[in-house]
Amino acid sequence: MAYNFITAEEAAEMITNGNTVGLSGFTAPGNPKAILEAVAHKAEREHAEGRDFKINIFTGASTNDHVDGILSRNNAINMRAPYQNTPDLRKRINSHDAHYFDRHLSEMAQETRYGFYGDTDVAVIEAAAVSEDGEILLGCGLGNIPTYAPRAKHIFIELNEALPQSLLGMHDIYLPLDPPHRREIPIYAPNDRIGRPTLKVDPGKIRGIVRTNELDGVKSFTKPDAVSEKIGANVVRFLVSEYQKGRIPKEFLPLQSGVGNVANAVLNYLCMDKELPSFMMYTEVVQDSVLELLRTGKCTFASTCSMTFSNEVESQLFADLDFFHDKILMRPAEISNNPEVIRRLGVIAMNTALEADIFGCVNSTHVLGTRMMNGIGGSGDFTRNAYISIFSCPSVTKEGLISNIVPMVSHADHSEHSVDILITDQGIADLRAKDPLQRAHEIIENCAHPDYRPILRDYLKLSKGGQTPATLNAAFAFHTEFAESGDMRKVDFSKFA
Ligand code: COA
Repeated sequence: MAYNFITAEEAAEMITNGNTVGLSGFTAPGNPKAILEAVAHKAEREHAEGRDFKINIFTGASTNDHVDGILSRNNAINMRAPYQNTPDLRKRINSHDAHYFDRHLSEMAQETRYGFYGDTDVAVIEAAAVSEDGEILLGCGLGNIPTYAPRAKHIFIELNEALPQSLLGMHDIYLPLDPPHRREIPIYAPNDRIGRPTLKVDPGKIRGIVRTNELDGVKSFTKPDAVSEKIGANVVRFLVSEYQKGRIPKEFLPLQSGVGNVANAVLNYLCMDKELPSFMMYTEVVQDSVLELLRTGKCTFASTCSMTFSNEVESQLFADLDFFHDKILMRPAEISNNPEVIRRLGVIAMNTALEADIFGCVNSTHVLGTRMMNGIGGSGDFTRNAYISIFSCPSVTKEGLISNIVPMVSHADHSEHSVDILITDQGIADLRAKDPLQRAHEIIENCAHPDYRPILRDYLKLSKGGQTPATLNAAFAFHTEFAESGDMRKVDFSKFA
């Protein structure tokens, strides 16, 4: 079939107010880079002429400035799911200009197929190649495009000439049967391949192809600071000690690692470690340090949804793709994050918290209980189903004005039933086989910053009994104190006694 090569602006003309648009990609990689930007400019023109123009954007995870950034600046997003991380969209969400539902990433595809989120009008797919019969070689991130594409009425392709054709073979595209007909997902090891290397779409739905030529634009990490270094060292110390005690099998277990600076520092420490055996990853993103782990052989294989490498590392990958080709496999989000597979493989999950409470509940999403930061992402998929679930965060933030260890989390994403280990720059709290009071002592003494330990001990003394020694009228005193004085260290629990 002969396709129409069109401009991004021509594609944008065919995307109309109220459309639901499903995108390829997961974090910046694999996301479209031109068409949604043209849609944002169209929105600006429509708004200038007094007409409404907003669209719904469904993805695998976060996107890039060409999507969430510019669409938000032009106030062109009505509904967004399941995850985001751009400052401009964050502002729109927190001021109610954009609706956002923050969903476990593994659930989005099935819920879309069952119509929870309405029709999909348009799919925009970044591709390295497309054949005449609709076989698409995807880019460096998959997300939920295997679900969005077949449902969409219209498909646009962004053919990115910066992507090498030799990516062929690095994708494993598999759609599970839906309930009640689902069978097991036959992944028994992180490197099991179960699907197809390309995405097949109906070529008759492809309305046009837009040429692009751009790397994924992920920012490089800054050198880990002293606090992240300490957290990284503590995570590796914990893994080594578990391994030496025989609580992790001799051949080790697959690792999942979350997003952000702390996560990257943890992986840097794993690169340097000499005591753990080599391991595989079953994760949703691989960041820069994973390429080094693969190069040295410390990590032998990574199953992921996206290769979230900075431009510099992405260029290194493309230059040496022969070496990495059989060491990384990209899967759809509902498989990379699948609870059944995570539980079966015994994945060790390592995610980052904004704050944790003294009983082990974790807030990953809401700054001071109300303002959305990014979203839960895949942290819930992995945490709830992990063999061991680790959360880490700095003990304090904003130079000590905020304690990340609080009496009660101001928003609960992960409960104490799912969180096994809490790690800060101060140390390690092992919450397994401990009751709430024991967990509180463990967290205060090992993870809280020394400035906050006496205050947290005072909080515990307020308890009038009950298995969980919480005191409801004082539970948010850290947060209310910060709102009033800007310094959580000023909390005085004597007034609640
Ligand atoms: N109260 C208020 N603000 C806080 C805070 C707290 N308890 N803890 C951190 N912050 C602020 C920081 O000061 C920083 O603010 P700034 O942007 O003004 O500098 C911001 O929140 C981010 O903190 P930082 O320590 O830089 O975060 P990070 O890069 O390590 O990311 C999360 C941490 C939790 C935001 C990030 O991991 C996330 O979005 N997680 C949810 C998704 C997820 O876990 N996915 C995992 C599967 S890949």
